[in-house]
Amino acid sequence: MNDIQLYLAPFQGITSNVYREIYTQHFDGIDKLFTAFFSSIHKWKIPPAKSIELAQTHHHGVRVIPQILSKDADEMLRFAQICADKGFEEINWNLGCPFPRVAHKKRGSGMLPYPEMVQEILDRLMPCMPVKFSIKCRLGYESPEEIQALLPVFAQFPLSELIVHARIGKQLYKGPVDLTTFEKIADKVASPLIYNGDIFSPDEFLSIQQRFQQINRWMLGRGLLTNPFLPATIKGIPLPEEPKILIRKFVDDLYFAYRHKMNDRLQSINVMKEMWSYLALSFDNPTKVFGKIKKCKSFDTYEDTVNLVFEKYQWMGSGGKR
Ligand SMILES: Cc1cc2nc3c(=O)[nH]c(=O)nc-3n(C[C@H](O)[C@H](O)[C@H](O)COP(=O)(O)O)c2cc1C
Repeated sequence: MNDIQLYLAPFQGITSNVYREIYTQHFDGIDKLFTAFFSSIHKWKIPPAKSIELAQTHHHGVRVIPQILSKDADEMLRFAQICADKGFEEINWNLGCPFPRVAHKKRGSGMLPYPEMVQEILDRLMPCMPVKFSIKCRLGYESPEEIQALLPVFAQFPLSELIVHARIGKQLYKGPVDLTTFEKIADKVASPLIYNGDIFSPDEFLSIQQRFQQINRWMLGRGLLTNPFLPATIKGIPLPEEPKILIRKFVDDLYFAYRHKMNDRLQSINVMKEMWSYLALSFDNPTKVFGKIKKCKSFDTYEDTVNLVFEKYQWMGSGGKR
């Protein structure tokens, strides 16, 4: 399965520059990384707190794709040029964000019911785009039928990739993925098509892959945050004899990197808690593990709790309870 490519999905508040750097330092198997979405690029200069996310075009040799959430072609071009100047070769347009405060303004997945708006933006944008341009979208916002009207629009432009999260916006992250609709579009997409949604284990990957044999690029999200070895396992890369030891090292390195980045502010524990809300699911008692981590309010209690978790609970990888 060496020809398959696996991408790490963007997660606002989790897959930061720090996460991407430490993750790729410890784990193999990921071929592409994405920043969480940028928005409100009103000026040519990105504020320092955000520009750190564009500090590296690669992490340990893995390419980073900056992402923008916008409905303003000029803003997107400004972002593309800023990224081009920093050495990035591609940007990604977020047409998938489902949160009502975004979607109600016809942004993210909220734009999917309006193909004419997508057309207008791409018409203005694409002739001037200085880098490769890909899109991450859902099947629709209100209905999975919406993608049918979008595909002819997308097909008019040289998109480098189309990543489709097989849900509609209204579902948020709940309910089943809609493989039937994904199947209907799989052969109709002009650009390379990437599947995203609910790949939590190597078995789930295999069953979806069997259904879509024409797809060889896959984006992994919560399944990877839960089990960082998921890409390696899918690709058949051998795991260390004691995976739990490497998970521990990863968790510690991430924690100290965040403390360093945040000048030892307690906020670094909150960032770790976001990550633990997924990682806890790979232990044999996720509720207990996350319950303990969630309560930590100081560096000492966090460190003691992490020691206890690794001593007391078994690490199950993708085989934990969900
Ligand atoms: C907390 C959270 C933050 C997210 N942030 C982003 C984001 O910034 N950009 C984006 O395109 N998708 C974002 N997503 C969606 C994921 O990238 C991914 O598409 C989604 O989780 C489905 O994939 P999965 O089932 O493999 O997790 C986010 C999802 C969650 C739960």
